[in-house]
Amino acid sequence: MRATSQLRVHLLLRLLLICFYLLSILTFAAAGVGDKLEKGQNLTDGDTLVSAGGSFTLGFFSPGASSKRYLGIWFSVSNATVVWVANRDQPLLDRSGMLVFNDLGSLVLQDGSRRTVWSSDFSGSASAAVVQLAYSGNLVVHNGSSDDASLWQSFDHPSDTLLPDMKLGKNLWTGAEWQLTSWRSADDPAPGDHRRTLQTTGLPEIILWYLDVKTYRTGPWNGIYFNGVPEARGYADKYPLLVTTSAWEVTYGYTAAPGAPLTRVVVNYTGKAERWEWDARRSTWSNLFQGPRDPCDDYGKCGPFGLCDPDAASSGFCGCVDGFSIPAATTPSAQTVKVTTCRRHAALDCAGGTTTDGFAVVRGVKLPDTQNASVDTGVTLEECRARCFANCSCLAYAAADISGGGDGSGCVMWTSAIVDLRRVDMGQNLYLRLAKSELDDHKRFPVLLVAAPLASVVIILLVIIAIWWRRKHTIMGAIPQKHSMAVPIVSLAVIKDVTGNFSETNMIGQGGFSIVYKGQLPEGRAIAVKRLKQSVLTTKGKKDFAREVEVMAGLRHGSLVRLLAYCNEGKERILIYEYMQKKSLNVYIFGTRYLLEHKCFLKLLREQNFLTQC
Ligand SMILES: *[C@@H]1O[C@H](CO)[C@@H](O)[C@H](O)[C@H]1NC(C)=O
Ligand SMILES: *[C@@H]1O[C@H](CO)[C@@H](O)[C@H](O)[C@H]1NC(C)=O
Ligand SMILES: *[C@@H]1O[C@H](CO)[C@@H](O)[C@H](O)[C@H]1NC(C)=O
Repeated sequence: MRATSQLRVHLLLRLLLICFYLLSILTFAAAGVGDKLEKGQNLTDGDTLVSAGGSFTLGFFSPGASSKRYLGIWFSVSNATVVWVANRDQPLLDRSGMLVFNDLGSLVLQDGSRRTVWSSDFSGSASAAVVQLAYSGNLVVHNGSSDDASLWQSFDHPSDTLLPDMKLGKNLWTGAEWQLTSWRSADDPAPGDHRRTLQTTGLPEIILWYLDVKTYRTGPWNGIYFNGVPEARGYADKYPLLVTTSAWEVTYGYTAAPGAPLTRVVVNYTGKAERWEWDARRSTWSNLFQGPRDPCDDYGKCGPFGLCDPDAASSGFCGCVDGFSIPAATTPSAQTVKVTTCRRHAALDCAGGTTTDGFAVVRGVKLPDTQNASVDTGVTLEECRARCFANCSCLAYAAADISGGGDGSGCVMWTSAIVDLRRVDMGQNLYLRLAKSELDDHKRFPVLLVAAPLASVVIILLVIIAIWWRRKHTIMGAIPQKHSMAVPIVSLAVIKDVTGNFSETNMIGQGGFSIVYKGQLPEGRAIAVKRLKQSVLTTKGKKDFAREVEVMAGLRHGSLVRLLAYCNEGKERILIYEYMQKKSLNVYIFGTRYLLEHKCFLKLLREQNFLTQC
């Protein structure tokens, strides 16, 4: 008897618990834990959006000890790990901030007195309907239909963190550059002095900057990994690296394999680039990579033609490549900065197409800075050698791509100084041009090292110069940069690419002055390409073109097509508009001429009130 009543109480308790659990789930859902805002909806301090999958949260936060409020996105499992901040240098002073998704389709952050402190620098579009925190942590404005081309996205405006599916580098279409900028301190997300960019000349390589001074480079992309970061091979299965070089973009990014732990790459406020991985078992981040990691990673540490060896701490890490040495100081007056630079032993013998020079192999290195190097990925290494040999200004060459195995393929040629060379595990071979006399093994000079006292004098001098240099640049860097909303100019080659070289199948209409083509950007967005006919390119025609660019560039209204870019290369005059399915072709064909005759448009221009319904 007793046992049954006990069982009953137990069951009742269980039932109550289940009810309580269900109730809590329901109230949680009612509190609005969604991932979207529709047009006209607001997000106030205390509200959050949570991405599908739950990894990311968007809301208001105060970093560290600061009491200031910022709108940002963080990892749901680690709410102090902020990956994106909207109002980096415009903090809110209290909890009365509000994010408004307005009628123009722009995101606007307002303070308590409804003043705008930040807005998405997106000039709005009638089709913008939804802002959504995507699975990846990307905050995206899109039109809400199945065609999911984004109109604005936070991934295009990185803070200090690179997440999977983000990019660093250049968009050659708009000229925009994606880069990471450190926070100013642990509790101030304002842009700091450290940046991480993708160098897009030469071979792609990632550069860390302090103001305008390079501090660390990863080494060039070799088809598999960045040449100076061989440890990336250890996590390439989980987080495959992706480098894209095309007419559209030169970018670096990475993805996350299904099931891989959360990860992030960050430039911290002390000027280190780091990759972290979430350890769910211990609820903490574990470090996979950090750069710079040793003295040899300091950019240009050993000067031109220097070779840094991380295992040579006793001799100050620095030496010279074969055929070069640091001259011994003979007199006190020779104790200048110049003394530490490597000097060539024997002059090259190359002129008028004849040469007796040859090449020495420098094995296992992080290749020198390729900023000014010329690159051709389409040739063999033998062809590369022949080219370098035949060109007296070529000082060294190397393979551009080792993904095919062997000695690699493609060609990088250096014609100016060899800078930032170091020894590295699984490094590549650099082929260095030397005079014939230097190539005979028995005549090789030992590397001469400067005496320690002299070295310290020089280091002190360098530090003084560096401090002076940084001061000068801090002042220069403090001048604020104006954000330009100008319409970008694009090259004819790019336009030909998107319109299939102005193919007739892409033609969507024709007027007296222009032909309109439909084009498609690589990310899927459709555009209308309006190409003026050669017959109208009189002085007046050119003036009309300039006027259309000027008027359309200044307009932002939901019911007007938006000018995205233009081109005036040679005899071509081309305007690129947002493509709108429902718009009459006349809008593109006649442009402002047509629009200016439109009563409603005139009214709009006069009143500068873009919210009236036409
Ligand atoms: C959102 O904010 C705007 C601007 O403050 C206000 O006009 C509007 O009524 C708000 N909408 C909602 C749904 O709270
Ligand atoms: C490349 O050339 C520019 C302009 O001459 C120079 O400022 C820069 O230091 C060079 N870079 C390297 C790595 O040599
Ligand atoms: C030598 O190489 C440089 C750099 O690639 C190039 O600008 C120059 O035209 C070349 N000279 C000859 C004679 O090919």
